[in-house]
Amino acid sequence: MSSMSFNVLIAEPDFELSDIYVLGIENTFQDSNITRVASFKDLKAKLNASGNYHLIISEYFRDGDEDIFSFLDSKSLNIPTLTITSFTEAEFINFERDITYHLKRAHLPKPFSYVSFENIVTELSGPSSFVQSRTAYKKINTEYFLRGTIALCDTYVKLSDSKFVKVIKRGDTFTISQIESYLDRDINYLYINKDDLDEFVVNAGEVSFLKYDPSTPAEHLDIAQKSIMTLKRLVGNYGISEGSMAVVDSYVSNLKKLSQGSVKLKNLLAEREQMTNYLYDHCYLTSILGVEILKQLAWGKKDNIETIILTSVYHDLLLEDESLARISSQGELLKAELSDYDKNIVLSHGRLISETLEKEGINDQNLYEILINHHERPDGNGFPRGLYAKQIKPLTAVFIVAHELAKKMEEYHYDLEYSEDIAKHMQANFSKDHFEKIVKIVDKILK
Ligand SMILES: [Fe+2]
Ligand SMILES: [Fe+2]
Repeated sequence: MSSMSFNVLIAEPDFELSDIYVLGIENTFQDSNITRVASFKDLKAKLNASGNYHLIISEYFRDGDEDIFSFLDSKSLNIPTLTITSFTEAEFINFERDITYHLKRAHLPKPFSYVSFENIVTELSGPSSFVQSRTAYKKINTEYFLRGTIALCDTYVKLSDSKFVKVIKRGDTFTISQIESYLDRDINYLYINKDDLDEFVVNAGEVSFLKYDPSTPAEHLDIAQKSIMTLKRLVGNYGISEGSMAVVDSYVSNLKKLSQGSVKLKNLLAEREQMTNYLYDHCYLTSILGVEILKQLAWGKKDNIETIILTSVYHDLLLEDESLARISSQGELLKAELSDYDKNIVLSHGRLISETLEKEGINDQNLYEILINHHERPDGNGFPRGLYAKQIKPLTAVFIVAHELAKKMEEYHYDLEYSEDIAKHMQANFSKDHFEKIVKIVDKILK
């Protein structure tokens, strides 16, 4: 972390909100250096490692008697902090304890106003040489534009401090190659009118990342295709070979083909094919990572590759709720405090899809084994059975590792800065016994 930059720590579990905070910071301060985390645990870890932050923007985190404020107090960290939360101040347990700190603490209710955000962070930062003069244009990370299809407002490229040229008109559709061409030319920010910013933020917040936006007319672009290209672009930053991507594409490009003659499976897969959300990305990414691991282990014979791809596509097919699909350990299952009904779905979705495939005449023991055990973990913390590494077959182990890696990449927004965190997480939790050599491949993929 540089002392020449304005260091901001953002802690927000919702990545779309966190993105908007980044946008706000990049527009308010020059030379900002932003660190992002998604949980109280990670926030504490970052602050334990360094107190060199000029500003914290965080959800109101609380764990028993400890909350974000008492944690800062216990570390004597006098860092200006803005909590943005749906908790009210009355529900904060330690907010007002010390008036000297209190002066450096502010609170904004969710949903928040962008203008108040900018004013509060400017105020909190005090007289700072990092505060930008307010210009007529606001900068937006160019990669943002890979998500949408229609320009929410007029969009400009900056030629010099005083010269901006309009490249996309409000309401126009734009293509992924247009945005990529900016990125290729190192145009990492595009600009919009200051007055359009509030509207942009609201709309951008509503269009979920990689999610199908029903208001976008179908004729404009093939949304699914575009989502996949965005995903590929993000995944392409990791050490994955073109070959693995091509293999997966050849299977997954027409999901319905995988139904092997069963009408029931065809219908289930057709539903999934129309999705471009987390669940679709999740199965695609798990396939790519699984295939890459197989290749690097020299286990990439056709049968193994097909089994990994099929199980990636099928494994969560009976889950409709993406929050359920993200649960990957006994601990997370407990923490999610699910209804009995949902808990039962989570515990049984692997077995149930395996039974469905068997009924539909797909007869493959390796496939069943992976589907039933895809949430087991080598340290016994998985579910439904809490198996240990030695009870898990090698091909299933590859799936389990690829699956967790896919989940983590998504969780960290495909941000390469977190590669080391992910590698550590995999080593700490997934490298027992015969899993070890698989996790070594993961290290290579993460570099
Ligand atoms: Fe699952
Ligand atoms: Fe899954």
